[in-house]
Amino acid sequence: MKLAVLFGGISSEHEISCLSAASILRNLDRTKYEIYAVGITRDGAWRYCPTCDVERIENGSWERMADLVPALLPPDRGVHGLVLLREGAAETVRLDCVFPVLHGAGGEDGTVQGLLELAGIPYVGCGVAASANSMDKSITKVLVETAGVRQAKYYLALRHDFERGAEGVVRAAAEQLGSFPVFVKPCSQGSSVGVAKANNMLELAAGLTEAFALDDKVLVEEFIDGHEVECAVLGNREPVASTVGEIAPTQEFYTFDAKYKDESSKLYIPAHITERQIETVRRNALRVYRALGCRGLARVDFFVTHADGEVVFNELNSIPGFTSISMYPKLFDYEGVRYPELLDRLISFAWE
Ligand code: DAL
Ligand code: MG
Repeated sequence: MKLAVLFGGISSEHEISCLSAASILRNLDRTKYEIYAVGITRDGAWRYCPTCDVERIENGSWERMADLVPALLPPDRGVHGLVLLREGAAETVRLDCVFPVLHGAGGEDGTVQGLLELAGIPYVGCGVAASANSMDKSITKVLVETAGVRQAKYYLALRHDFERGAEGVVRAAAEQLGSFPVFVKPCSQGSSVGVAKANNMLELAAGLTEAFALDDKVLVEEFIDGHEVECAVLGNREPVASTVGEIAPTQEFYTFDAKYKDESSKLYIPAHITERQIETVRRNALRVYRALGCRGLARVDFFVTHADGEVVFNELNSIPGFTSISMYPKLFDYEGVRYPELLDRLISFAWE
């Protein structure tokens, strides 16, 4: 089977995508898949990597490989794959499947999924709408509400209003949430990029200013004091939820650095919560997955509050991190599904 693995991309999570892709490339069964590794540069150029040097993909030096070939993926169903521009000549590769291992904008947000729909090529993971909706935290909020799953209180701040009166927006957000601290989150970023914790009005104003540099919509959220737990979901019509894992960040919250650079953040599988709480998380993860219309996979993140043990939805990642220390593959490994088998299943769901 000819399988293209897309990685890199234009988002602030470019680096994480390279780490995720390297670990996926190491675990794909080469007897089953003829792999076409296609890197997308930070500027958005598509490059096929014929030697598929996993270490260079992992350490981020892949863009300097000597044998890169410009690659196009036209929406043309007649092509149904890649056009490689080798030494001036165009070579067409019909693909059986694409695995977009892209986090954030331009990959996890429905854009690449739209291209693959047009091209008629089966792909791993969520479709256009589910990807776009789960990438936008404010839309996720609305859909999760319809699923009847508890989530943090929030205030949606719009750039338009902030530019006309920052003070008014700060005051309205603080009034709506009622107490500090609060979290400030750009609506369409992943990996905690642009996220800040604010302990007072001044910090809230600063957090909003920073977040609006990244996005037109910003969520101000109630701070939930609890265990950070995550559940992996796999499947299409009959999705299954894994056991629940816990992140024990050593920094104030699970920041970008804590996620990928700080080796001291710990994962516990299963999470240090009760059996009943684990069941509630799993049930709610499936509800959220369905409410957002996901297919293939997603990792659904929750808090379990320290005060009363309530399960509170945090966010859903339609292309969760797949690095060697990432929760998604570890959760299924705990369930007895080894990494290569997990990848086989994900790829088989692309056709269902
Ligand atoms: N957005 C990153 C990759 C994650 O949450 O896993
Ligand atoms: Mg994320």
